[in-house]
Amino acid sequence: MSEKLSTAEILAAIRSGSASAEKSAPPESSASPSETPAESPAAAAGAPSGTPSILDAIRAGGNAPAADKPAAEKPSSTAEILAAARSGGAGGSKPAGGSVPEGTSAILAAVRGGGAAAPAAKKKKTEVAVPAIDPAAVSGLSVSEMIQAARAGQSPEEAETRPVALPAKPLRSKTVVKPVAKKTETVQRRGFLGSVVAWMTAPIVIAWTSLCATVGIASLATARFMMPNVLVEPPTKFKIGPPSDYSPGTVSTKWKAQFGVWIVNAEVDGAQMVYALSTVCTHLGCTPNWLEGEQKFKCPCHGSGFRKTGVNFEGPAPRPLERMGIRLAPDGMLEVDKSVKFQQELGQWENAASYVPVV
Ligand code: FES
Repeated sequence: MSEKLSTAEILAAIRSGSASAEKSAPPESSASPSETPAESPAAAAGAPSGTPSILDAIRAGGNAPAADKPAAEKPSSTAEILAAARSGGAGGSKPAGGSVPEGTSAILAAVRGGGAAAPAAKKKKTEVAVPAIDPAAVSGLSVSEMIQAARAGQSPEEAETRPVALPAKPLRSKTVVKPVAKKTETVQRRGFLGSVVAWMTAPIVIAWTSLCATVGIASLATARFMMPNVLVEPPTKFKIGPPSDYSPGTVSTKWKAQFGVWIVNAEVDGAQMVYALSTVCTHLGCTPNWLEGEQKFKCPCHGSGFRKTGVNFEGPAPRPLERMGIRLAPDGMLEVDKSVKFQQELGQWENAASYVPVV
């Protein structure tokens, strides 16, 4: 009785119903609760199993350690029983190891399990350090993601921004799926472009493309060769307005650039008339200029000169300028016909079709 009993020993003694729960018999007290019923079947049949049964047995004083105490000192309430268990058990002595369970649950677990050291060890093994998590920060995450973040030791913000691979369960958070989808789309686009470039740079494709281009160009050239070359020229007949537009004694250069004719209103052999002179020099075909101050046509090529009537008087030109056909149309307009030519050296200027008399 000199040493205090542990809680486990007390409870083991309660279960076994033995009155001699002394420290002098450590082999019997150190046996585990699971071995005790096998060694003493009769005691196991009468031993309390639940917490209420154990507490009732202690209150009733049916156990030998409680019977040794005076009736006034027996614990009656649960608090007193637990206090007695904390202070050293029914035998009034603490265990040698000094490990006494502190909480009520621990004491009851020790009573059920047969000792205080074993539950304490189990508790240490099952303790998990859970990091502090802000409820507001994990409101948008699923349970699996929160557990994953807690296990990885990262904050909920990191778990939200960093993709977490959960192979057994599909991802449900859009903030986690988006980066993976973009990366996959980029890889697919690069793969497609690479395939197109590889196909376009293949030797067989280049050869066929060159052949088709050559055949197409040759076909277009053949089609153009089959079409005749058409020279578009101005019309040979054109109207130049009424005779009143051309004053007597004047040379009009209005139609020189467009139709290649001068319109002259002059007196020839005592008759006032309007006629059309060709702008082609009779020497080598240059285009003379009308010099109003000198009242002559002057060829810039070789210096041939022509009078207002068209007769050559200087330079290498061998003959006078040619007249074009002209007539007064029914509508009162002068009409020039370049398809008809009249030469003075041939006496053709006497033809009435080579001039239009005016009053
Ligand atoms: Fe006109 Fe020679 S071409 S003078």
